[in-house]
Amino acid sequence: MAFDKKHFTGGETEGGITSSYATDDGVKLKVPYSFMGSIYDDAERDAAFAAMQQDTLTMGPKTQEFQNKFAKAHGVKHAFACSNCTTGMHVATQVFDIKKGDEVIVTPNTFWATSLVILKEGGIPVYADIDPRTFNIDPAEVAKKITAKTKAIYVVHYAGLMVDMDPIMELAARHGLKVLEDCAHATGAAYKGRMAGSIGDIGAFSFHSLKNITTCGEGGMLTTNNDAYTHAIQNLRCMNNNHSWGENGASAWQFGDKIHCKKESARDYWMPAHFDVQSWNGHWGNNYRMNEVQAAVGCAQVDKLDMLSAKRREIGHKITAGLQDVKGIETVYEPEGYHHVFHLYTVCVNEQELGGSRDEFMRVLYQEEGIQTILHYQPSYHFSALRKLGYDQNQCPIANDFFYKRETNLPMHPRLSDADVNAMIEGIRNAAAKVRKRHCKA
Ligand SMILES: Cc1ncc(COP(=O)(O)O)c(C=O)c1O
Repeated sequence: MAFDKKHFTGGETEGGITSSYATDDGVKLKVPYSFMGSIYDDAERDAAFAAMQQDTLTMGPKTQEFQNKFAKAHGVKHAFACSNCTTGMHVATQVFDIKKGDEVIVTPNTFWATSLVILKEGGIPVYADIDPRTFNIDPAEVAKKITAKTKAIYVVHYAGLMVDMDPIMELAARHGLKVLEDCAHATGAAYKGRMAGSIGDIGAFSFHSLKNITTCGEGGMLTTNNDAYTHAIQNLRCMNNNHSWGENGASAWQFGDKIHCKKESARDYWMPAHFDVQSWNGHWGNNYRMNEVQAAVGCAQVDKLDMLSAKRREIGHKITAGLQDVKGIETVYEPEGYHHVFHLYTVCVNEQELGGSRDEFMRVLYQEEGIQTILHYQPSYHFSALRKLGYDQNQCPIANDFFYKRETNLPMHPRLSDADVNAMIEGIRNAAAKVRKRHCKA
């Protein structure tokens, strides 16, 4: 893919780490990091345009279709579209009734949102270290952090590789804990034949611009197999709206009165005005709805999901094969029985073997080889907000080492051409050789 500066506009945005890594330093990039994680074509354009002409632009037929398609694709009973993954996880945290002083065990290797939603409800994030090969929360570390105050475990399927869920679910069952799967990276991922978002109590997906499918840059989905949660999720997603006058129990605000008010219905058409509001279990609701244009685009994206995942997997496996023999560079680990969807391709530098540091390697890779790589994630307890609360800054040494010394993420999206992938492989090989040479390693 040729680098086209006009599509690389991060300098004019205010999104920080959520929107582009623009540079103006004269470096000629061969493969820039891209902030569009998917492929759009006529299907998305036509779907968006058609949805714009509907009578309702929110919580209408496209939202319901998107939810149904997404639930089917992930082998789960219920799916609820929402404005993004963070708002979805906030709803899940309210549904789990996390309150002041409740502890939630969570991975430090995640975007801040996973901790934020716990803090918003007064809960206490308790960090369990990660596995050095999968970069996912380590179930053995989770077990060590369980106390009488623990209420839930929040896991993140980092980079599109699912967490080892069996021991997590065993721990949860033994201690009566809820499990949230943060599936922001894991649309389409699977573990031992089960899809992301179908194992924990609730799954939360992101359709942010970077993600494997995107609904125009923002969007999210909650999934659950628990019938008892459906009312709570709908109530909290949409204004504590509590009435159930629709033909299937859905309210007008949930799916549009016209869709569910059949001819033979006894009620009058103006009845949606008489909606009711009740807090859910003491929790106030939110307006976390998705709009119809996003949902229509989401339907087109779900139709492409297998193709998008296959492309990412093909690219990921090609990179792995191309870097096998590079001393000091560790490739992605995909254990038997896992279906990795390569939201990220994380290479790790083994400083001892390479002879130089990760940062030195990244600098050479960027400045001399034109390959732009980025870091995910600073351990959450290193943010000032938590540091000031006294969180031990060395509590998860593997996560610290991972972020500060080992990892970097390659450009990864399904529009990468063979030439891009070859350029990345060649660039990494060259950069590793240059760093090794500087430090006179064989
Ligand atoms: C692991 C993880 N969790 C949660 C989120 C939040 O997703 P959203 O931007 O849709 O709120 C992200 C987004 O980058 C993420 O990477």
